[in-house]
Amino acid sequence: MKYFDLSAQYNLIKNSLNKDLSKIFYKTNFINGEEVTILEKKLSDYTNTYSLTCANGTDAIYLALLALNVKRGDYVICSNFNYISAAECCKLLGLKIILVDIDKSLNICPEKLSEAIRKCKRKNIKPKLLISVNLFGNSINYSKINKILRSEKILHISDCAQSFGSTYKLKKLEEYAFISTTSFFPSKSLGCYGDGGAVFTKSKKILNLIKSIKSHGSYKKKYNFKYVGLNSRLDTLQAVVLLNKLKLLDKEIKIKNENYRYFIKKLNDNFELQQLQNNTYSCHSYLNLYTNNISRIRVLKSLKEKNIPYQIYYPKTIIEQTPYSDSIYFDLQNSIDISKKIFSIPFHPYIKRDEIDKILNTLNYL
Ligand SMILES: Cc1ncc(COP(=O)(O)O)c(C=O)c1O
Repeated sequence: MKYFDLSAQYNLIKNSLNKDLSKIFYKTNFINGEEVTILEKKLSDYTNTYSLTCANGTDAIYLALLALNVKRGDYVICSNFNYISAAECCKLLGLKIILVDIDKSLNICPEKLSEAIRKCKRKNIKPKLLISVNLFGNSINYSKINKILRSEKILHISDCAQSFGSTYKLKKLEEYAFISTTSFFPSKSLGCYGDGGAVFTKSKKILNLIKSIKSHGSYKKKYNFKYVGLNSRLDTLQAVVLLNKLKLLDKEIKIKNENYRYFIKKLNDNFELQQLQNNTYSCHSYLNLYTNNISRIRVLKSLKEKNIPYQIYYPKTIIEQTPYSDSIYFDLQNSIDISKKIFSIPFHPYIKRDEIDKILNTLNYL
């Protein structure tokens, strides 16, 4: 059993993909090829936003922060239970991080967000923005969170790296924040065969600004630079991979949802799963479980004995990572508890029913 099965997916697209890739080898438009623009148009149509590709999902967050003209010392709220990119980009730009705890959705808790903003006010701290994250495919509660942010005049960047294809209230998640970002790392719900990322926004002004910043700050004419920027491009070969894989995405998400329903129906109640947000359709990029009754060491030992691969997302929270231990925080107990219990099992769209049954049998009879 594989944790991800990218070769099963490749088998479905190899004829058209190999043909499309070989065209690029002859056209030699490896950088800024028209296929990149075609992909951006498709991503825009898919998410109902303006989109721009870039080199990876971390750059996408970095570009979003630069476009919002953050200044050294500005305060940014992040979830304490997350991949490192959001906090890392803040640190690189000299921003001060405020970490907020999660709820059972494993995403930032709206009530704790409000409480953190209130407590910050008492210390004369005014956060400039929130970088939210939709972990494992599950949407945050955009209605509640955007309401809080609007009333406090706090900007919103939403990291959708693990949730491309997920919806909230029937719209793609990328529609809900001022700027959204994603990663096309191979294991993501839409992944390329290397590194890639994208930003999404409804603002034409932000789109044009990011277009310039991601290309060294160039403006209107060649070799004319208006901003300090960076070089962050998705190369043409990766765009071709993504164009081919985008055709599979909705079907893959549908299969994962069918498998999810099958799995939760059969799983015993020793285990808890991430609580899915109401009104959401998750792309289930990863399936994570935790248990209060059985030690994680015992669960992982059993999975290993049965040759079932697993991962731990994430063994430590952001506050427990050395470079981020100086962040401001109030109560992070849920995220710290979860990181000690959580584990992730194979859940790619090409997993077979007998493989799911093998996982269920292993977990249910512990
Ligand atoms: C939630 C989240 N944000 C950002 C990233 C960073 O993406 P990349 O590896 O493309 O820089 C990842 C990737 O693993 C992620 O899971």
